Amino acid sequence: MTLAARLAAAQGRHSAPETVTPAPLAAPAAPAAPQPAAAAPAPRTATVAAPTDALARLKDRVVKALFERMGGRMNDPSLSEEQLRVIVLGELDEVVDEEKVPLSAEERQRLTATLADDVLGFGPLQRLLEDPTVTEIMCNGPEMVYVEQGGKLLRTGARFTSEEHLRRVIDRIVSRVGRRIDESSPLVDARLADGSRVNAIIPPLAFSGSTLTIRKFSKDPFGVDDLIGFGTLSPEMAELLHACVEARLNIIVSGGTGTGKTTLLNVLSSFIPDDERIVTIEDAVELQLQQDHVVRLESRPPNIEGKGAVTIRDLVRNSLRMRPDRIVVGECRGGESLDMLQAMNTGHDGSLSTVHANSPRDAIARLETLVLMAGMDLPLRAIREQIASAVDVVVQLTRLRDGTRRVTHVTEVQGMEGETVTLQDAFLFDYSAGVDAAGRFLGKPVPTGVRPRFTDRFAELGIALSPRVFGVAEAPRRGWS
Ligand SMILES: Nc1ncnc2c1ncn2[C@@H]1O[C@H](COP(=O)(O)OP(=O)(O)OP(=O)(O)O)[C@@H](O)[C@H]1O
Ligand SMILES: [Mg+2]
Repeated sequence: MTLAARLAAAQGRHSAPETVTPAPLAAPAAPAAPQPAAAAPAPRTATVAAPTDALARLKDRVVKALFERMGGRMNDPSLSEEQLRVIVLGELDEVVDEEKVPLSAEERQRLTATLADDVLGFGPLQRLLEDPTVTEIMCNGPEMVYVEQGGKLLRTGARFTSEEHLRRVIDRIVSRVGRRIDESSPLVDARLADGSRVNAIIPPLAFSGSTLTIRKFSKDPFGVDDLIGFGTLSPEMAELLHACVEARLNIIVSGGTGTGKTTLLNVLSSFIPDDERIVTIEDAVELQLQQDHVVRLESRPPNIEGKGAVTIRDLVRNSLRMRPDRIVVGECRGGESLDMLQAMNTGHDGSLSTVHANSPRDAIARLETLVLMAGMDLPLRAIREQIASAVDVVVQLTRLRDGTRRVTHVTEVQGMEGETVTLQDAFLFDYSAGVDAAGRFLGKPVPTGVRPRFTDRFAELGIALSPRVFGVAEAPRRGWS
């Protein structure tokens, strides 16, 4: 007889708790949770479903009792993972003893180990976190867990047993970094021990249940060769961008959410020569520069009383007093853009950053809006002049329908013509090549044939650029210029 069946047979002893089992479920999830579970094994007989329920109920009871015994120790940041595990295993032993279930020594050990993993680890997310092909995890409430794999969004079979279960995992993640999430602060950014970026938002703000988003940290970040391999960059474009970084041009990487801006910024930063002092400024450290001389700064959100915030803007200003050769700002999303542009215009050239925009033209407009957020009341023309003289190159990333991320534009910011910032594309993605049978885009970024003016600077600095970069011999020339 299987473990589950034996448990079902022993169920009589627990008939009372059976009726109250749904109690720990959060109120809104309770009626919804059993439905899909009941729907899935529909063709089977009730006798098969019962033992599975019995095992699930046993686990529920044990976990509930464990949490009661553990109390505040569960989220005590002064305990190491090791210490916590020892305490949990000890308590679990006692709880299972009290249950008086017919378990062999091996079954018992397996049960406590699974439960310990469940309460100490990330429950159903553990497997996804360990899977290197999963790059992002999204939980929309306890039942819906999506991942991004190979650039595509997929729904997985993973699920939490209840809203409460999901909340416990969220609590564990945020309490490890000294934050808390509850009614009074229902949204939190945190980081896993391995550096993965986490955002959690709970009801009532998250209407459909607690929502958790994890951007997995890649231990081995993509390098320039990876991006060329993915077709994100062409080798020629990589050579041009390398030269741009060496020549200390100011570069803005533009793209929508998750298009690979931070990854490309990391790759561009890797082109910075070793003998330069680099200051990186981010909301949550993600950049992984290989150079030795790097100072990494991270902004800080306000504490629970709303005090103590240190913004990206504060850090940009501070960095100017740190004798930087290069300032790399993870993302311009507010008033710091003005300080960044001023820095670029006043000797801190060679700076790099990203903005959230869908085209190079849009990136310029976005920078205008961000500068206005600095609240300096500058006339629009003055802002545009700042942008035009500060930014040299915009590199646009787009996530195409086939899930691939491609650089669709490398665009030079040339200056102003009347009220308009003038842009000139040097590379554009060739959509005309169409798609293959699997729907993958066959095109690549191709030179427009217009040589950017900044290449004159390369010659002065002795930076050689091979003639193939602008693809004189490149296949069909298009009328982009
Ligand atoms: N060129 C690429 N090809 C395939 N996958 C990529 C590429 N660049 C980044 N990725 C993957 O896409 C995800 C998002 O990357 P990244 O964090 O760089 O994007 P982002 O634009 O900075 O996102 P956000 O807008 O959230 O800051 C990561 O999982 C990363 O590994
Ligand atoms: Mg990013």
